[in-house]
Amino acid sequence: MKVDVLLGLQWGDEGKGKVVDVLAPKYDVVARFQGGPNAGHTLEFDGHKHVLHQIPSGIFRERIRNIIGNGVVLDPIVFKKEIEGLSKFNIDLKKNLFISKKTQLILPTHKLLDAAYEQSKGKDKIGSTLKGIGPSYQDKVARNGIRVGDIVAPDFEGRYRNLVKKHQNILSHYDFEYDLEEAEAPFIEAINFLRDFNLVNSEYVINECIRSSQTVLAEGAQGSLLDIDFGSYPYVTSSNTMTAGACTGLGVAPRNIGEVFGIFKAYCTRVGGGPFPTELFDEVGKRIQDEGHEFGATTGRPRRCGWLDLPALKYAIMINGVTQLFMMKADVLSILDELKVCTHYKLSDGTLTEEMPFQLLDEEITPVYKTFKGWAKDVRNVKEYRNLPSELVAYIEYIEKETGVPITIVSLGPDRTETIVR
Ligand code: GDP
Ligand code: IMO
Ligand code: MG
Repeated sequence: MKVDVLLGLQWGDEGKGKVVDVLAPKYDVVARFQGGPNAGHTLEFDGHKHVLHQIPSGIFRERIRNIIGNGVVLDPIVFKKEIEGLSKFNIDLKKNLFISKKTQLILPTHKLLDAAYEQSKGKDKIGSTLKGIGPSYQDKVARNGIRVGDIVAPDFEGRYRNLVKKHQNILSHYDFEYDLEEAEAPFIEAINFLRDFNLVNSEYVINECIRSSQTVLAEGAQGSLLDIDFGSYPYVTSSNTMTAGACTGLGVAPRNIGEVFGIFKAYCTRVGGGPFPTELFDEVGKRIQDEGHEFGATTGRPRRCGWLDLPALKYAIMINGVTQLFMMKADVLSILDELKVCTHYKLSDGTLTEEMPFQLLDEEITPVYKTFKGWAKDVRNVKEYRNLPSELVAYIEYIEKETGVPITIVSLGPDRTETIVR
């Protein structure tokens, strides 16, 4: 069977965790292909709310194998904490969790470097989650990194010390104070903890699934507008968050990619710095933030809120080859009598465009909006598409017509059950 991919089409936090958990029963394997503990994927079921950072969102389903792929950067300390948080669910982790030996490690010094780089950027800081993501991917590309498979090698300790020395050398060029000792003890403990897990060549596991007709869902982290190549650079994360990232992050050939599920909020949010053309600075933005509980699942920071941005959505659909759209959090917009969608960008010379400019930051962009009548009623308990208010159906059908892609899931609340599958 081909591998289906699920990914965020905006600036992250679209609701990927919820949807992976909803779809997981259809799959034998759920695999994360990029990112690391910068991600926070929230799942709600049976009165539990759970946030996962590095462990794939299929972990609560008994029959499903979960894989942390080679494209991920893994922080052993966060991993240990996450596993401890799962203990009350009686999950058989020996049977259900596999980690690629090629996954890169995040060292305590990667987190220090992240903080030092951000501090040195002053007002231009990215707004990184400071989880060490950028510096860890930097070491991967610079061919300095240490991988999960290396932790069982006899010279692991020496290689670790060497890399730490390099990092300390870099840190000495920054006006940045740190205490490494404090961070190192839990790291060593967490490495020992990690040794007991299934460390595998996950590309073989996944390709064996493809051959033997088992179903695999690749779970993205972040979103397309944070992609290192196509996002709002330099205000991006350090991995390819797009479909192509699932190929390199798991070892899946492009011809073995099946459906591409693109997920988006009925509006937009962004956490951290960087351009956001449709951002709302008024009372409406504040109301969406409150109603949608738009506060980061990893850092608790408030998420900036704004209207749906169609040029950006179409761009994300294009670079990912999205075959089905899932619309999230339409219930949040029930508080509004009227809502808007950005259809075009107006550039400083007056021209209208649907294209994402090379550098969003340098362009004077004015979003051009189309206004919709709101549905202004609670929709969280609606279970059938045909029972949705006509105004919401009009909104959905407009987006389908504009993008040329069907919206096959409409999510109307954080719980597993608050989901309409068409
Ligand atoms: P992810 O990073 O894409 O997995 O998304 P997050 O978990 O960071 O953020 C999404 C937030 O919205 C979480 O708090 C979810 O519980 C919540 N959520 C997901 N889908 C819906 C929905 O359809 N309606 C509402 N109201 N909340 C949702
Ligand atoms: P999930 O998977 C939202 C943002 C950060 C910052 C930028 C770079 O939950 O959707 P990094 O820590 O990667 O160096 O930060 O990217 N960011 C996210 N925003 N959701 C995420 O993940 C994010 N992961 C990173 O806020 O602006
Ligand atoms: Mg999140």
